[in-house]
Amino acid sequence: MKTAHILSLGAVLLSYAAEAHYIFQAVSTSGAKGAEYQYVRHNTNRNSPVVDLASLDLRCNVGGSSGASTETLPVAAGSSVTWTADTAVYHQGPVSFYMTKVANAAEADGSTPWFKIKDIGPTFPGGSWEKCTQKSFVVQIPKCLPSGDYLLRIQQLGIHNPGGAPQFYVNCAQVKVTGGGNGNPSPLVSIPGAFKKTDPGYTANIYNNFKNYSIPGPPVWTC
Ligand SMILES: *[C@@H]1O[C@H](CO)[C@@H](O)[C@H](O)[C@H]1NC(C)=O
Repeated sequence: MKTAHILSLGAVLLSYAAEAHYIFQAVSTSGAKGAEYQYVRHNTNRNSPVVDLASLDLRCNVGGSSGASTETLPVAAGSSVTWTADTAVYHQGPVSFYMTKVANAAEADGSTPWFKIKDIGPTFPGGSWEKCTQKSFVVQIPKCLPSGDYLLRIQQLGIHNPGGAPQFYVNCAQVKVTGGGNGNPSPLVSIPGAFKKTDPGYTANIYNNFKNYSIPGPPVWTC
């Protein structure tokens, strides 16, 4: 009886590992090495993606609407933040970084307007998208961004199943930007709302005649 229980637990753990999903668990700067979930909000759906384009969970993942147990990381405008996942980001698809300005990062729910600060996608010509083996992704906080509290959101899309729903792997960090400027981020979008089922970046078949790619969401704002 006991052996049977242990065996079935083993099978469950194996099946989770076999999914090869991932969670962006930590952020760090040159001055602060964030521990797992120190500055990143805890999600409660293990390493599963969000697939519903109308869901509020698209903002900061399932369970990520509250920052009560999360610290806020001070970041100098113009400096870099490194996101680290628990395991290599295995599924092909673009990585984008969004921010939203908030009164208090620990109290923000992500309902405020978002803007995009960076996209990482395939380069052409080439026509192929290799499986990613990277665990860490770096984003620079724009130098002219006004000082204050923000949510910093990483989004990786799994688009490895052409015709299927894209998988959103998202997490939010809480940051306090210091030494910023007078930039005016735009365009502003709401999440959910910024992503549509018909966006070519979801429906692309990355295995066949893959010649160009537009990353979903608004254009990147720069200073
Ligand atoms: C590729 O470019 C064509 C022509 O501009 C466009 O219609 C199509 O949506 C693009 N595909 C992707 C995946 O971005």
